[in-house]
Amino acid sequence: MCGIVGYLGNLNPKDVIISGLKKLEYRGYDSAGLAILHNGETKLIRALGKLKSLEEKITSEQFNGHIGIGHTRWATHGVPSERNAHPHKVRGISLVHNGIIENYLDIKEELVKQGAKINSDTDSELVAHLIANEVEITKDLKKAVENILDKLKGAFSIVVMWEKNPNELIAFKDGPPLVVGLGKSENFVASDVQALISYTNQFIYLNDREVVQLSQEKVRLFSSQGVAIERKPIVLNWSPELVEKQGFSHFMLKEIYEQPRAVAMAMEPHILNHRVVLKNVGFHEKDLHHLDQIDPLKDWETTQKEFSKIERIFIIACGTSFYAGQIGKYLIENLSQIPVETDIASEFRYRQPIIPKNSLVLTISQSGETADTLAAIRLAKEKGALTLSLCNVKNSSIDREAHGHLYMNAGPEIGVASTKAFTTTLVVLNLLAITFGKVKKLISEEQELTLVQELLSIPSKMEVVLSYDKYFQTAAENLKKFKGFLFMGRGVSYPIAMEGALKLKELAYLHAEGYAAGEMKHGPLALIDERMAIVMIVPHDANFEKTVSNLEEAKARGGQIITLGSGENERLKSISLTYLPVPKAEWNLNPILYVVPMQLMAFHLACILGYDVDQPRNLAKSVTVE
Ligand code: G6P
Repeated sequence: MCGIVGYLGNLNPKDVIISGLKKLEYRGYDSAGLAILHNGETKLIRALGKLKSLEEKITSEQFNGHIGIGHTRWATHGVPSERNAHPHKVRGISLVHNGIIENYLDIKEELVKQGAKINSDTDSELVAHLIANEVEITKDLKKAVENILDKLKGAFSIVVMWEKNPNELIAFKDGPPLVVGLGKSENFVASDVQALISYTNQFIYLNDREVVQLSQEKVRLFSSQGVAIERKPIVLNWSPELVEKQGFSHFMLKEIYEQPRAVAMAMEPHILNHRVVLKNVGFHEKDLHHLDQIDPLKDWETTQKEFSKIERIFIIACGTSFYAGQIGKYLIENLSQIPVETDIASEFRYRQPIIPKNSLVLTISQSGETADTLAAIRLAKEKGALTLSLCNVKNSSIDREAHGHLYMNAGPEIGVASTKAFTTTLVVLNLLAITFGKVKKLISEEQELTLVQELLSIPSKMEVVLSYDKYFQTAAENLKKFKGFLFMGRGVSYPIAMEGALKLKELAYLHAEGYAAGEMKHGPLALIDERMAIVMIVPHDANFEKTVSNLEEAKARGGQIITLGSGENERLKSISLTYLPVPKAEWNLNPILYVVPMQLMAFHLACILGYDVDQPRNLAKSVTVE
């Protein structure tokens, strides 16, 4: 989704904007632009395609001044093109926008009636027109922005600059994220802290319907009614290196290789003397800044008390996070006997879900900004459910909305296709399932000890999987001849099959489907021929024999089978075209290991086919519009 960077200060705004936009590339975009103000004039340059095209366009340009805004656009209204790219400039007002203005047709009709000349197909330009009209009356940019807010329906964030006031940026958020970065005699605003961490570590996150007025010296926060708001900045201790490739060819590859460490970091806060003690979930702690300061033991008591009342759990998410949630269902139901429903957020929010008393709604979102998941948590709260969020980005919108908070602790994930956020989520879901099992008195101390020991062995087993990368690369070479792919598994391997298929779609643009292996006879068998690759996930668990039967059936119909199984297995080897061994683990932890070959095969195949792995076409990392 779109990326926004705004800057006021003594550095060259062009450099700050371009470096910030580069850090936001992961969000996905199709055009880019910047506007810089100097001596009462705006220099506006936009380009179709990647930031490289914008950089080429500006190399011969001189940039002066102390204020500017920039944008990467992910097209919603109007095709990707230079004229639809942001910033939009209307009579001295320059504007960048992320989100959707739902009533844009009405606004456009009104503006055209008034004689406005519209230069793009976007909803964003219309907002610039409204502000330009208003500022002629108010002569004050902040007032002009505030006055037009009620005319706009939808979810949107904007940053605006005015030629008549070269020391002021006005930003407004209602939906897509915006964060203010604080510096010495310089201030920033951006869609994500990653754009700014090489300049500052002090941030103020904006809440919905807040306006911020930035000058070089000051940042002032207001409600949309103009009431001043006090908010202390938070200090982030992320190092800038975390968002660099560090010698890897791609962010995605780096993130795949970071997984052993990431999963260790995900479990670390919640394991105490080989027991699961969820740390600082902070149910009912309103101010997220205090989460680190609350008494862990008191908090653990509250968590257990809240969990003991829970009779039903809903897990809501999108994309890869949804598949993790489906595995969560198997884990929680098995270890705690609490019924779990899973739902795709965009379905949940519109299907009038029935949420009985004593329900917990758990939302999973790496970014913490996915619009449908955010709407789902709001709906769950309206319906009286207790909510718990599992996010990677602290202080993100979903994190702020939830009653309780858990984190993936995976560090920044830049590759659009999620990898380490998925495996760290699975770790936290295991911890959560164990906690529910304990609270419901279904897990003995001895069982807990064994479960924790198994969990602690996962990082080193992941290292082993990664050391087989050359086999996955060879397997990927062999995959390029196939026209389609069926990924199949049973139990917890079923969501892994869907995640494997998703990775192939996202990265290699190939048609792949994930299926429950038991469903093979109900349709997919008809697809099987020598051009269809079948990727079977067959760990040595309770479903082993049944899955092997499915394998045999597929083989008998000429299926070309790539099998992933536990350790060396002659039987599986003899049936398969390619057999890929994965270290043995308990059933609940297999998904964490088996997904890694899926990630690597999709990665290598996409590289072989010459695709942009970190930013696949048409996709966005943070889907802030529905
Ligand atoms: C997008 C991303 C996926 C991600 C999904 C959910 O589609 O491309 O990688 O799984 O959004 O994102 P979330 O941030 O809510 O986990």
